[in-house]
Amino acid sequence: MNDLSQLQIQAEAELADANDDAALEAWRIKYLSRKGLVSQAVGRIGSLPPEERAAYGQAVNAMKQTVQAAFEARSQELIDASLAAELTAEGIDVTLPGRRPQVGRLHPISRTLRNIYDIFGQMGFQIYTARDVETDLVNFQLLNFPKGHPAREMQDTFHTTVEDVLLRTHTSPGQIRAMREYYPEPIRVILPGKCYRYEQVTARSEMMFYQVEGLAVGRNITFADLKGTLVAFANQMFGQGRKLRFRCSHFPFTEPSAEVDIDCIICGGSGCRVCKYTGWLEILGCGMVHPNVLRNGGYDPEIYSGYAFGMGPERIAILIHGIDDIRYFYSNDVRLLTQFA
Ligand code: DAH
Repeated sequence: MNDLSQLQIQAEAELADANDDAALEAWRIKYLSRKGLVSQAVGRIGSLPPEERAAYGQAVNAMKQTVQAAFEARSQELIDASLAAELTAEGIDVTLPGRRPQVGRLHPISRTLRNIYDIFGQMGFQIYTARDVETDLVNFQLLNFPKGHPAREMQDTFHTTVEDVLLRTHTSPGQIRAMREYYPEPIRVILPGKCYRYEQVTARSEMMFYQVEGLAVGRNITFADLKGTLVAFANQMFGQGRKLRFRCSHFPFTEPSAEVDIDCIICGGSGCRVCKYTGWLEILGCGMVHPNVLRNGGYDPEIYSGYAFGMGPERIAILIHGIDDIRYFYSNDVRLLTQFA
């Protein structure tokens, strides 16, 4: 009997030390297999005197059951522990930083356009959208470029297979369309849109680009109104305190005409590479609407006057962001686009 409880104590102690499947199996073979120590103890019944057999039998069976139950419990414990270890190892670390989804954003030219719309919108200008496919008549002739006029040479044209139908080379033909639609009301609109020129693509010119045209027509509109409007625009677009320079120029559809420069936003006027050491940056063309153009739009130039201007948003974005090549805008390189958050 003493040996039995000794055996049980020893078996339980060794079982507690079996920490993996191999140790557990070795323990099982040592104690519970057919030739194991527990089976040997059971087998000893036969060698006992008959009067001791009953008591011994009961005790050895109870010991065997206890040891067997301990083995099963230990097996389960090891299974649970290895499962728990696996779960910890494969678990999700919720404190790790997540993966950032790619977020879309507005193209820098869209942003520039919206900025221009906002500024003129506050001054009461409405947006007028004209067509991209124009006629020679509206794109050129009604704007005072008759066929064969040398000024056409500055606007190399994409023609279509239809005679005298072309892709507009500038937004100015929208002036004619707006006037014919608004007549005889006064007009204050901007006309944004794409323009097309059959040109060599270089760092400074694309064959597709945007323009934003402006047009005001009324009874007492003067060059001073044009100047005031453009100064207000430049101060909002490029920062307060801008200096503007109006240089005499020529466009067939305005008289007088001017080109407008701002003091260089990079060097402030002292001279740098961007302004080619002149201190000035050209930002747009403008003038008083030519009497012929007013007439072609339906407005009598004896009664009405107007001003017009035209600017290139790509050029403005290039100046504001210090971009040195217009081709970046339409080559869809996300490395450029993601820089405009
Ligand atoms: N249409 C001209 C161009 O494409 C730009 C321009 C100049 C528009 C003067 C105007 C203007 O309305 O008054 O080069």
